[in-house]
Amino acid sequence: MATTTTDEVHIDVFPSAPIAPVSEYIFSGFLEHLGKCIYGGILPASPDTFPHSPRNLAPADQFTPTPKELLTPEGFRKDVLEVLRDELNTPLVRWPGGNYVSSYHWEDGVGPLEERRRRPELAWGGEESNLFGTDEFIAWCRVAKIEPFLVLNMGTGTLREALNWIEYCNGTGDTYYANLRRKNTGKDEPHNVKYWALGNEVWGWWQVGQETASAYAVRARQWAHAIKLIDPNVKLVGCGETGLNAWDGVVLDELVDKVDLHSIHLYTGFGVRDRTKPEREYGRSVYGPDAAEYAIEIARGLINKARILKNVSKPITLAFDEYGVWDNTVGTPANGLRQIYTFTDALAMASWLNVFVRQADIVEIACIAQSVNVISPLIVGPTGLFRQTIYWPLYLFSKYMRGGTSLRTSTASSPRFTGETLPEWIGTIKGAPSELDVSAVLHSSSSNRQRLCVSVVNRAEHTAFEDIALRVPFEEGKRLEGVEVEVNEMWEEDLGAVNGFENPERVVVKTRKERWSGRWTFKEHSFTLFVFDL
Ligand code: AHR
Repeated sequence: MATTTTDEVHIDVFPSAPIAPVSEYIFSGFLEHLGKCIYGGILPASPDTFPHSPRNLAPADQFTPTPKELLTPEGFRKDVLEVLRDELNTPLVRWPGGNYVSSYHWEDGVGPLEERRRRPELAWGGEESNLFGTDEFIAWCRVAKIEPFLVLNMGTGTLREALNWIEYCNGTGDTYYANLRRKNTGKDEPHNVKYWALGNEVWGWWQVGQETASAYAVRARQWAHAIKLIDPNVKLVGCGETGLNAWDGVVLDELVDKVDLHSIHLYTGFGVRDRTKPEREYGRSVYGPDAAEYAIEIARGLINKARILKNVSKPITLAFDEYGVWDNTVGTPANGLRQIYTFTDALAMASWLNVFVRQADIVEIACIAQSVNVISPLIVGPTGLFRQTIYWPLYLFSKYMRGGTSLRTSTASSPRFTGETLPEWIGTIKGAPSELDVSAVLHSSSSNRQRLCVSVVNRAEHTAFEDIALRVPFEEGKRLEGVEVEVNEMWEEDLGAVNGFENPERVVVKTRKERWSGRWTFKEHSFTLFVFDL
């Protein structure tokens, strides 16, 4: 292990340069009818929901019975709900897909359970029992204190069906679908779903109903117009690609005056565990989120260009409504995208969250893909769960970085990574990534108290940075030196360390308190989140 001790390397945080308030929705989740996410994660798996995707799982894997005491009165998995509500404080969840939504017909999933239609599942294989539908999702959201975000089927679905779904959820009049909801739920109150997305990844070849950008844009414009007629209060999310594709530009030019948010998706780590060159794995994993940051910056430009062309003064924000660390050679359709995460993946996750905090002025929603079992921080068995390595950065960011104002930071003095990144263009086009990766949030309360939270990922694989100055020039002369600081640190010698049912706490965050001296030693490949109460 190398160490660097030099005054030339420092971290700057600028309290006088606020970026924007951090939207609490950047800590959102995503549930898709895929693998064991819904059936096994939200509801206990059962013979009735088998065979859900993937086709080739043995029945025994799917439904070892879950004891009644582990379920809520509504029949939901209590442990999952409690982690999402009470620990991660998940504010909003996107449902029902994902690829799944492109052949989902919502009417199959409402009404008496015994009358629900079983359907072939086209996106991931297997059969869909439809035992978890709109009313179950909303009931789960209410218990979990989560805002629902629904995705419309722009594959096999029609505009009429979409309008009916919105009427079913939000209608308050004496109309057919509003009354159907009342009949099914036994209550008058509407579901009040505010966020609706106009399809999922309609650009992808794997999608049922793939379209060209211009064909989608014309249709989405018609849908958006009609949807705002049936409910002018909804917030509409247009379907983008990664933010930097031609698709994004075409769709934004057409929809910018009709939507409230533009959705983008990106996963880091595809194929990262390439066994032919294992030495590349670390760099290709932890520096990946820099691509997402660049995609956000390009999307911001495309949004503004479209606003200029159409003279739209209303801001459009980004819904990064699928992001995460996913090696598609590990979490595969055949295993229901069950990926066990290493310590390296946790560092990548911390870098992802730094990106969302730094880009607080444009990212309104970020949904980790996904919330349970499927490329997720939580793995659930019939009688319990464990938290994966990537759970801990999400937990810390959600606890400390929500609600405040993101501040400008600088790591200009940090050494740069010059090895291979994934995608490879990061180094050549965006610029060689900074080894120290930082974001900061300032919380101010009415009693003149302030809390400064600073997240630092030392992404250098082998170099510890010793005695690094954290320079925070407060205008009113406040100083951090001498203040008690809570230090939350993640570090493992073994980059491949994982948690599991047998060793659920092998990788966790370690928290301690210290008097702040103004300098800190960042271990090699580590994540540190400081909390200063001023
Ligand atoms: O999250 C897994 C899949 O990734 C989603 O279904 C799809 O939208 C994306 O390609």
